[in-house]
Amino acid sequence: MAKYIFYLCPMRIDIITAVPELLQSPFEFSIVKRAQEKGFAEIIVHNLRDFALNKYGQIDDYQFGGGAGMVLMIEPIDKCISQLMEQRNYDEIIYVTPDAQVLNQKTANTLSLKENIIILTGHYKGVDQRVRDKFITMEISIGDYVLSGGELAAAVVVDSIVRLIPGVLGDEQSALTDSFQDGLLSPPVYTRPAEYKGIKVPEILLSGNTPKIEEWRQEMAEIRTKAIRPDLI
Ligand code: ADE
Repeated sequence: MAKYIFYLCPMRIDIITAVPELLQSPFEFSIVKRAQEKGFAEIIVHNLRDFALNKYGQIDDYQFGGGAGMVLMIEPIDKCISQLMEQRNYDEIIYVTPDAQVLNQKTANTLSLKENIIILTGHYKGVDQRVRDKFITMEISIGDYVLSGGELAAAVVVDSIVRLIPGVLGDEQSALTDSFQDGLLSPPVYTRPAEYKGIKVPEILLSGNTPKIEEWRQEMAEIRTKAIRPDLI
C-alpha cells in the first residue's frame, strides 16, 4: 500500500530592524509561539546594525536637501537583504510604513499562504527611497497614524498572518469566525454565568437551537457593523 509522507515546511519570516529588542517578546507567547513550536512558522529577527557601515554602527544619515530626521541608508539594508536572498527565494519583501495601503484581512489571508517573506522596518524618518524602489515588493501600513518605528507594525503584520497559516488554529478557534472574515464585525459573545448581578445572557444563546443561534449571530454582526463600521457594508 502506498504511503504518503507529508513534510511540513514552515513559513519563514525574516524581520530586519534597527531595534531587535522591540521584537523580543511579541512572538514568544500565545498562538504565534505555538505556531513556531509546532513547525508552522519560523520567525527570525535580524539586527540591521550587524550590517553597519563602520565600527560606530552607522546605519543612518541626514537626508539630502535638508530636513529633520535621519534616514536609514541603502548599504546596510542591501547587505542584509542580499545575504538573505542568497539563502532562499522570497515571495514578498515587505516594508512597513505609514505611507502605504492599510493592512486588512484580505491581505493577511493572502500573505498567510506565502512560504518566505522579509519584513523591513523603518525608523526615524524612514528608508532611502532607493531601497523601496530596488528591493521592496509590497508596502503595508497598519493604520493612519505614525508610530516611532516599524517594529510594532511588523509584529501586528506577523500576528495577523501566522494565526491564519492552515493548521495553526484548531477548529475551536477557527479564524473563519473572526471579525472581517465575512466582511462583518463579530457578533457579541458571552460565557458563564448565565446571569451576573441581574445582567442576563441573551435567551437565544441558551436555547440549544443552533440554526436560530446562527441567525441571531448573523443579525447581531450586521447590526454591529452598521453601527460601528458602516464603511464595511
Ligand atoms: N511605521 C510607523 N508608523 C507606521 C504605521 N502606521 N504602519 C506601518 N509602519 C509604521
